[in-house]
Amino acid sequence: MSKGIQPIRGMNDILPGQTAIWQQVEAVARVLFARYGYQEIRVPLLERTELFKRSIGELSDIVMKEMYSFEDRNGESLTLRPEGTAGIVRAGLSNGLLYNQQQRLWCGGAMFRYERPQKGRYRQFHQLDAEALGFAGPDIDAELILLSARLWRELGVGGLTLKINSLGTPESRAVYREKLVEYFSAHADGLDDDSRRRLEANPMRILDSKNPDMAGIIDGAPSITDYLDQESARHFEDLRRYLDEAGCEYELAPRLVRGLDYYTRTVFEWVSDKLGAQDAVCSGGRYDGLVEQLGGKPMPAVGWALGMERLVALVEQAGCAAKPAVPDVFFALLGDQAEFRGMRLAEELRDAPDDIAVVCNAGGGSFKSQLKRADRSGARLALIMGEEECAAGTIAIKPLRSDEPQQSCEQHELVERVRQLLAAGEAGL
Ligand code: HAM
Repeated sequence: MSKGIQPIRGMNDILPGQTAIWQQVEAVARVLFARYGYQEIRVPLLERTELFKRSIGELSDIVMKEMYSFEDRNGESLTLRPEGTAGIVRAGLSNGLLYNQQQRLWCGGAMFRYERPQKGRYRQFHQLDAEALGFAGPDIDAELILLSARLWRELGVGGLTLKINSLGTPESRAVYREKLVEYFSAHADGLDDDSRRRLEANPMRILDSKNPDMAGIIDGAPSITDYLDQESARHFEDLRRYLDEAGCEYELAPRLVRGLDYYTRTVFEWVSDKLGAQDAVCSGGRYDGLVEQLGGKPMPAVGWALGMERLVALVEQAGCAAKPAVPDVFFALLGDQAEFRGMRLAEELRDAPDDIAVVCNAGGGSFKSQLKRADRSGARLALIMGEEECAAGTIAIKPLRSDEPQQSCEQHELVERVRQLLAAGEAGL
């Protein structure tokens, strides 16, 4: 590695060989969002720290340990967004989008969490977020899940498992919480330090522990679904019916609690066994209290976010990844006159209606080295023009991916000839 300035740990460069896959995922998602009536919203990367404390929760791991927070020049505490939902709700409120309205929104971009980096877990990562605000019923929970399921299908990603659970209302959860504290207190000897610390502050997070020594205790813990209030139980039952009707398979996951405090009722996660420890590709749930908590009128809402890095890895593994784009033609130009005229001819080619991709040699070099570049570029045709061709008003065309012989054409016929050759190639002639 160079001795220059080092990148920040856990923050990745996405290189040209990779961006085609990212664009592929984004393009498929963008079309699906539009087909389900979700509109794009773009919100700032920076928000007041208070926003995340009030939404994700003061005692959550994200707020306690993982935020990139700093004081700006005015002494105001700002934070790089660790997730998208809080900012989207804030934007909805700031711009009057939530006043007696329903909104189906999506948003994409970088998120920041100071986590311990490992495969699939980064400090800067990217999410695609889908949020439906102003909808109370389980139909919209199902719609969002079906939208994500369709995304996996259209990308050719298989083998994902959908896990669903219901967390009930804050009131029903309080009852469950008490039962849980009672149970874990009775088994305090078997808890690790982390879990003992969580016992009072956030006992439900103990259920999330990956410590194998605690698996038995966690298995025996009371199940949240046994403590649901009637309406939440009904909501959950109806969601399951929507999914059953649509043929969308799921697993009931009574231990799924999620790490953000704003959830109520439905929570879900799509997991893959092809990603190692960081197996959640997409997660979300209902957050019926959040809009009010952030200063709006009470408004139910539900959404999910998928992790782009993890989804891109799955698309690659499935062998469905798009290849980086290659040019159609590479223009090799030798000598002053040819260089000046070549630029003009390249523009004429780009004017043609078929979106021909043209890379012009720049910075000189012998024909030999230029043709090497042409080959490396992946172009199908090399167009070759030196002083001689320039003077004669011709240009040489060399197919690079077949044994067809080189041919010559008049410069004024170039556009038509290239179009014909490319079209014949497309047709496999
Ligand atoms: P989350 O579970 O924190 O939920 O993140 C959603 C997804 O982002 C995860 O399933 C995972 O794929 C990806 N992800 C999270 N952290 C990292 C990381 N450090 N590195 C790479 N990928 C990561 C939320 O953020 C909620 N805002 C989701 C939501 C939307 N709930 C309702 N609406």
